[in-house]
Amino acid sequence: MNGHVRHWWKEAVFYQVWPRSFQDTNGDGIGDIPGVIARLDHVAALGVDAIWLSPHYDSPNVDNGYDVRDYRKVGAEFGTMADFDALLAAVKARGMRLIVDMVVNHSSDEHAWFVESRASTESERRDWYVWHPGRDGGAAPPNDWRSFFGGSAWARDDATGEWYMHLFHEKQPDLNWDSAPARAAIFEAMRFWLDKGVDGFRLDVIAFVSKDPAFPDYPPEHRDAPEYYHADGPRLFEHLCDMRREVYRGGDEVALGEAFGVPLPRAARLVAEGSGPLDMLIHFDAVRIDRAGMWRWKPVPLPTFKRVFTDMERLLGRTAWRAVSLSNHDNPRLVSHFGDDGPRRRVRSACLLATLTLTLKGTPIVYQGDEIGMTNYPFATIEDYDDVEGKGAWSDWVETGKVGAGEFLDNLWRTSRDHARTAMQWDDGPKAGFTTGTPWFHVHPDHDTVNAAAARADDASVYHAYRRLIALRKACPALVYGDFRDHLPDDPRLFVYERRIGAEACLVALNMSGEDASFAAPEGFAGAALVLVDGVSPRESEPLGRSVDLEPWESRIWHLAGS
Ligand code: NOJ
Ligand code: CA
Repeated sequence: MNGHVRHWWKEAVFYQVWPRSFQDTNGDGIGDIPGVIARLDHVAALGVDAIWLSPHYDSPNVDNGYDVRDYRKVGAEFGTMADFDALLAAVKARGMRLIVDMVVNHSSDEHAWFVESRASTESERRDWYVWHPGRDGGAAPPNDWRSFFGGSAWARDDATGEWYMHLFHEKQPDLNWDSAPARAAIFEAMRFWLDKGVDGFRLDVIAFVSKDPAFPDYPPEHRDAPEYYHADGPRLFEHLCDMRREVYRGGDEVALGEAFGVPLPRAARLVAEGSGPLDMLIHFDAVRIDRAGMWRWKPVPLPTFKRVFTDMERLLGRTAWRAVSLSNHDNPRLVSHFGDDGPRRRVRSACLLATLTLTLKGTPIVYQGDEIGMTNYPFATIEDYDDVEGKGAWSDWVETGKVGAGEFLDNLWRTSRDHARTAMQWDDGPKAGFTTGTPWFHVHPDHDTVNAAAARADDASVYHAYRRLIALRKACPALVYGDFRDHLPDDPRLFVYERRIGAEACLVALNMSGEDASFAAPEGFAGAALVLVDGVSPRESEPLGRSVDLEPWESRIWHLAGS
């Protein structure tokens, strides 16, 4: 279609469930798999095709499940393997697919592989992880590599005096993909889930799996953003091709890679149609565009944001696919980040962001809670936060006196992952319907108005905007396979673009500002019909005029039928 090979995962809309905060069913305050099953109808009614389930494995939870202790065991807090099987069956019974999260750049230090690896330099599994003697007679880490969660990326282990590498928490040692037996064991764990019938994987920080065996210090140009260095290891492509061959074995299960550290020009090779080992990547170019480092926020003008999507079209074009991910469990809430979450404009700007997500080119991933316009939480002190990433940065920056607590907290509030991890707001009752017990983390006080029950009952809600946009996307091939073209790249308020396959096209106009804005209708859209305004079907069909006025945060889509 329009030069693209058709695949289910290109035409699908994904919904991400972060199970810990989705729905608790046994009153322990932690979301669980029976809770996901209990809420599947809410997800299915949106029209989504596939669910990405964040880690549901046995884990000591230093990084909320991204530290896996046993790849084949369901975390006790989430339920049992029978619960997982029931979830898979319930998802399929609703005509949806399920992908699971594979966290195989690293494991937990409590994984049996690491326990054995660390026991002695002679262990059979010693080289399944990345060990190195220290510098200065062993007293200093082997090089200057940093952990994304603060401090050095190396920890000295008393058992042998050697250092092991951990790009994240020290309880998340990096696996050594250069060891063939380690790779084989990882691939076997992945096959375990495919054999159960899952439809593929979201692959956590997958670009970090190849390390430079010389372990040099960072080249100077990479010191400030080491993710670009770590994602460019010498054997990355080879290891991923090996994984593709050994794990996927020709099926159409999807390989959705997380591309932290992969700049767009390098992404193309990894996801090239027919030859790339992955199917699509979750890019960071847009979602992290306003970051200066891990926790520092910087304002960015709209043209800079829009340029990302033109660059994607140019660099990935028709020969590679991509995911559209503007929010997830690692980023602030969609409406608070890119919209206006104040009471006057929350709904309208969340509907605009739904329109953006569902009409850009690529497979949309909707993060739990965004479909009802959930907002950032009013965290005030460092104690209000839970996340290891924010706390690690606090130790690195505030406790060392490099930056003042006030400045740090102002920035962290704008960038923290914890906003996405407060309880899903199901209703206006106590604890937002998330739990009958004490929730493991905060429940946002705005759940009295921002909740799924209210959203489902209101036809003009964010929820119904998502539902209608998903339906429109399915009815309109140009919104899936159509080329993307930005008509007003330099406009500081408006994002106006088309999606086109030959004569069939959609024109999307978004006023991403708090002021009125107008534009002249682009050529070639005469006679186009207005199909959605703020995610709602217009009462009268109104053809596109010569000029268009948009109110603050208003969004519109016109459709031009092919001849
Ligand atoms: C990316 C995950 O999305 C994030 O939540 C996690 O902390 C890191 N990878 C490490 O696994
Ligand atoms: Ca529970």
